[in-house]
Amino acid sequence: MVSRLAIWVVVLVLVIGENGGVSGGGPMSCGFPAIFNFGDSNSDTGSMSSAGGENQLPLGMSVGKKFKRACDGRLIIDFLAESLGLPYLNSTMDSIGTSYKHGANFATSGTKTGQYDSNPVPFNLGVQISQFLRFKSRTTTLYTNTSNDDQLVKSILPEPEVFSNALYTIDIGQNDIAYNFDLKSKPEIFDRYYDCLQRLLDNGAKFVWVHNTGPFGCLARIQQSKCAQDGSPCPAADEHGCLIQWNNVTQEVNALIKDRVYKLRAKYPDAVITLVDVYSAKYSLFGNPKSRGFDEPFNYCCGSQYIWCGGRELEVAGTFARYYESAKLINATCNNPSKYISWDGVHYTEAANRIVANLIASGTFSDPPVPIAEACHK
Ligand SMILES: *[C@@H]1O[C@H](CO)[C@@H](O)[C@H](O)[C@H]1NC(C)=O
Ligand SMILES: *[C@@H]1O[C@H](CO)[C@@H](O)[C@H](O)[C@H]1NC(C)=O
Ligand SMILES: *[C@@H]1O[C@H](CO)[C@@H](O)[C@H](O)[C@H]1NC(C)=O
Ligand SMILES: *[C@@H]1O[C@H](CO)[C@@H](O)[C@H](O)[C@H]1NC(C)=O
Repeated sequence: MVSRLAIWVVVLVLVIGENGGVSGGGPMSCGFPAIFNFGDSNSDTGSMSSAGGENQLPLGMSVGKKFKRACDGRLIIDFLAESLGLPYLNSTMDSIGTSYKHGANFATSGTKTGQYDSNPVPFNLGVQISQFLRFKSRTTTLYTNTSNDDQLVKSILPEPEVFSNALYTIDIGQNDIAYNFDLKSKPEIFDRYYDCLQRLLDNGAKFVWVHNTGPFGCLARIQQSKCAQDGSPCPAADEHGCLIQWNNVTQEVNALIKDRVYKLRAKYPDAVITLVDVYSAKYSLFGNPKSRGFDEPFNYCCGSQYIWCGGRELEVAGTFARYYESAKLINATCNNPSKYISWDGVHYTEAANRIVANLIASGTFSDPPVPIAEACHK
């Protein structure tokens, strides 16, 4: 008895030590073997870099190498993977030299829930789910039909059982706002969101971790583009300095996401669907930014004109081909990204992502309020 207790104490200390106390692997830990992630640039760890030309520094500068993310370093999904003791996820579009044993990432920059207007990036949430289902069926076939001697397949693909024990994470919606400001009049967009999650649940997903959408009116580029350009008065800001009108729209979107999540819970009572208030976690950064070393809450570190700093200049209108063919490398620099919340005006810095990830991994911002490591329990 004593020795078993001692072992638990050692295990807890080790886990807390490694993860900075973020989530822990205590007795309630689900031991998720893998993460399958879906979303936009907030969690894209290689799709855009693969499809649109490899990202260049200063993207990745804080980890000291090209890092395939719209950030100086790690994204929230990277910190969440760390907190679960799992490796960083790679995109299935970027498959060489990668193992998917502990999950795969389908998130692609620029995507929305559906392909309903001029956005040229075709990898919307529905397509990402289709890519995942194909990945799952191919993996299952290969795994089942591969002899035990074939170490390669078995070393890079997840065991078929992993799909029913994995954590499925979703972070999408920001581009639905960006491309489609008048979302309130189009609640059917979020019926697609419901359909997408339903396809995961119908295909064996049991544990789903849904992020709502961050405060659009706090994005540095929205601030700057809506303010002071033509000399007309700036739109109204709240006590943190975020633009009220845009945050109102974000909250409407988040209410639709919440409604669809609650409907899914009612339809799939055996699944555990956690709704994470990323909006409030991100918004809290703007409350007292200087106390966290963010001297420049509404400026951004990298670039001046384009939102893919150090990556490619993207032409937003037009076809998919034009989108990428027109991409030109941008030469940009950034000093001291840790003093900024915003990396490029739209995407957060690693320093900001780390704080948000710590906040949400703990469960404080979750409904139900369960830490990510325990998100198989209701
Ligand atoms: C992801 O890809 C990088 C190379 O781009 C590789 O170093 C890393 O090990 C990969 N991660 C996994 C989990 O395979
Ligand atoms: C294994 O391969 C055979 C022949 O290609 C195929 O008929 C069978 O469905 C495969 N097994 C699985 C589990 O996919
Ligand atoms: C934002 O929403 C609040 C509460 O619904 C409302 O009172 C306010 O008029 C809205 N402001 C703007 C600028 O849309
Ligand atoms: C890009 O920046 C590097 C170093 O800052 C400089 O040497 C190079 O000339 C620049 N290239 C262009 C095309 O501006």
